[in-house]
Amino acid sequence: MTSDEIRESYLSFFERQGHKRLQSASLVPASYDPSVLLTTAGMHPLKPYFQGLETPPAARLTSCQKCFRTPDIDVVGTTTRHLTFFEMLGNFSMGDYFKQGAAEFAWDMSLNGFGFDPEKIWVTVFEGDEELGLGLDEEAVEAWLAIGVPRERIVPCPRSENFWQAGETGPCGPCSELYYDRGLEWGTEDDLPGGENERFLEYWNLVFMQYNQDPVNTLTPLPKKNIDTGLGLNRMALIQQGVDSVFDTDQFVPLMQLGQSLTASGKHDDRALRILADHTRGMTFLIADGVVPSNEDRGYVLRRLMRRAIAQGHRLGFEGEFLTKYVDVVQETMGAAYPELGRERDTILRWAQAEEQGFGRTLETGLIMLEDLLGRGEVSGEDAFKLHDTFGFPIDLTTEIAGEREVPVDIAGYDALMEEQRLRSSAGAGGQERVGARQEVIRQLSEEPTDFTGYEHLEERTTVAGVLEQGGRTFVKLAASPFYAQGGGQVSDEGVILSADGEPRATVSEVLRAGEDQAIALEGVGDGLKAGDTVLARVDRPARTATQANHTATHLLHAALRQTLGTHVRQAGSYVGPDKLRFDFTHGTRLSPEELREVEDQVNAWVLQNDPVRPITTTLDEARELGAMALFGEKYGDVVRMVQIGGGEYSRELCGGTHVRATAEIGVFKIVSEGSSASNVRRIEAVTGPEAVTLLRSHDALIREAAGELRTSPEQVPAKVADLQRALKDAQKAAQSGGGANGAVDVAALANAAEVVEGVKVLTSRVEVGDARALLDATDRVKNAIGDAAIVLGAVTDGKVALVASVAQPLVERGLKAGDLVKVAAEVVGGGGGGRPTLAQAGGRDPEKLDDALAAAAERIRSVLA
Ligand code: ALA
Repeated sequence: MTSDEIRESYLSFFERQGHKRLQSASLVPASYDPSVLLTTAGMHPLKPYFQGLETPPAARLTSCQKCFRTPDIDVVGTTTRHLTFFEMLGNFSMGDYFKQGAAEFAWDMSLNGFGFDPEKIWVTVFEGDEELGLGLDEEAVEAWLAIGVPRERIVPCPRSENFWQAGETGPCGPCSELYYDRGLEWGTEDDLPGGENERFLEYWNLVFMQYNQDPVNTLTPLPKKNIDTGLGLNRMALIQQGVDSVFDTDQFVPLMQLGQSLTASGKHDDRALRILADHTRGMTFLIADGVVPSNEDRGYVLRRLMRRAIAQGHRLGFEGEFLTKYVDVVQETMGAAYPELGRERDTILRWAQAEEQGFGRTLETGLIMLEDLLGRGEVSGEDAFKLHDTFGFPIDLTTEIAGEREVPVDIAGYDALMEEQRLRSSAGAGGQERVGARQEVIRQLSEEPTDFTGYEHLEERTTVAGVLEQGGRTFVKLAASPFYAQGGGQVSDEGVILSADGEPRATVSEVLRAGEDQAIALEGVGDGLKAGDTVLARVDRPARTATQANHTATHLLHAALRQTLGTHVRQAGSYVGPDKLRFDFTHGTRLSPEELREVEDQVNAWVLQNDPVRPITTTLDEARELGAMALFGEKYGDVVRMVQIGGGEYSRELCGGTHVRATAEIGVFKIVSEGSSASNVRRIEAVTGPEAVTLLRSHDALIREAAGELRTSPEQVPAKVADLQRALKDAQKAAQSGGGANGAVDVAALANAAEVVEGVKVLTSRVEVGDARALLDATDRVKNAIGDAAIVLGAVTDGKVALVASVAQPLVERGLKAGDLVKVAAEVVGGGGGGRPTLAQAGGRDPEKLDDALAAAAERIRSVLA
């Protein structure tokens, strides 16, 4: 059975058993569920159904879900079965069949679908747990006995093995696992399923999901008894294809072969080949789902995968770029089942290439640093961590190279620092609780969801469905509400609630959203607003109009960016309010003034076209067919709202926000700033309509004021400023050359020559001074002139080289040290030196190489700041 056949036979088996087949959800979980970075199991996208927060599309569901397990990154390659990315087949019952039904389906599929000999199947059941207050899962035992599994092949296992939960807290339950007995050639008579042995291979986990755990160890029954099962596709392929390792199954053989064909002769390393095969596959799927390499969250997971793969390729002596070759093979083997690989092909190739080129440089720097540490005979935990954290140099590479040279690495120290970092980065979790609390407020107000009418009108005569005081705030729910609840980047509407006869009763301070439902937080509520009251709900029209213009402009901006920069541009976040719009998008480099101008011109051209903006309700499939852009990781139902501009030639997006009726209502679009929001994510802020006019008017006023101060006309301001600067420079020069011993170092010119790298002023330059002391003085004066900066100056005095580095304290905190900088530079000119992290000096013997030395320091600064 091929992997494709296993997938299809599983899904169609359960379809025949009345299950609705679901498409795999994205690897990026929906934005309202921050409990995991990436989807780790088939049940994950279905969590709101298990929790009873949303109604499932059917009581019986089946899916093949893309999954990614981050903790396994380090294990991959050292075993025959661990993978980071894998497919999980599952069948789910939402309050329909329970233990008996799940066991029967699994048994039937095992025998008739997978062709297993019933004698070879063993099962485990939950033996109970005191802390949870649960005993042996008798019901599961009975279910298997009823099917005819002999008692001796039903093995009770502890909580660690047979109790499954989706996270620390949340839906959970006892489970029962099916094992395939590979026979005595793989182990002994005494082996049992659940233990550490090769004889019994676990292949299917049936979770009897009936509790919610919150807090830990406290169980409350879920609204319904559910079934969640998981069967690892690659593991089943291993069994079906009779091989010893998942890397020998059909999805992996072509990837392993590609690695072998790229390996330089004389090298052989199975672990490296496996890491490459697994990681490039994971990389391909993550990018296809909208992740870009960065230093945070999912982006960091992706970057780690890519860098580990690149490093292994280097170890095996691969020539040239190779990640894209792996992408091709992943696409050949899996593209039919996952059309997104084809759709996002250009984007995948682009990021793969960019990271490989970028990391190539890091790898070289890292190797030089490591060489230095190896020379000292030991790599401390701190050094290993710094190599990893600051320079992106993977720990496996450190340990491997150190191992070859028999130099010890303090792995325990490294692990401790990693753990500290992990704790720091997980401290921010808790968003899920907030979502839960919000949902609770909305439900307590009234079970009946609010009817949102704000797409059509801005005023609504309606009744109060519920009032609630909580945490010092007053919330109401209206039967029908024209107020937009914050969501999809767009802020809540402002507005007021009036009594039936038009008396103001309260001001809207926030509109909270949970799914399609909402609650309104009010300010200034007098007594007596109560359920059943008739009220007039009125949206603040100017604020809404401005917000709508910004929202439609955001769609135009998105389209213009994709047109100008390429289709790798995807929305990565947004803010749409009455004041401005902010749009984050995936792109690796700063936009040039020409690109910004082109984007701005394009948006304004579309504004002038006065194209109609139409929301269209359609099916998700239809919208995809039409090429509508959707937010990665967002969960959409079968029926979606698609906002189309013009005839859809350039913009179609899935969006629940409010929009203008035609583009000319935007008036004018002006970009205010462009910058970096995270690595490989850029941010544009812009204004429209009256806000844009106000901005242009204030620029006008500024230039007039400057002209007044300079006693010239606005048109003459640039020329006048240039004149003044020239005069200032001349005056400074004159003052300095009169300054005697230090010679004529042109501080202003040096200050002007500083570049900005990653938001930091950086200056590396050669200067003419009499001696090392004068160089130190010059550095000091340049530092005073430019403020917080990284400065490396070099001079040739008496046929020798002098170097000084100065690093401002905030930059030291970013890992940049003056001592390191002079050291890197001094090595090039055949010398050495050192000093404090903020100031260091060095000397060298080779004046010919001074420029190279300064370039090395500049490169180091760049790589540390990157
Ligand atoms: N959710 C269960 C698992 O991942 C089936 O094992």
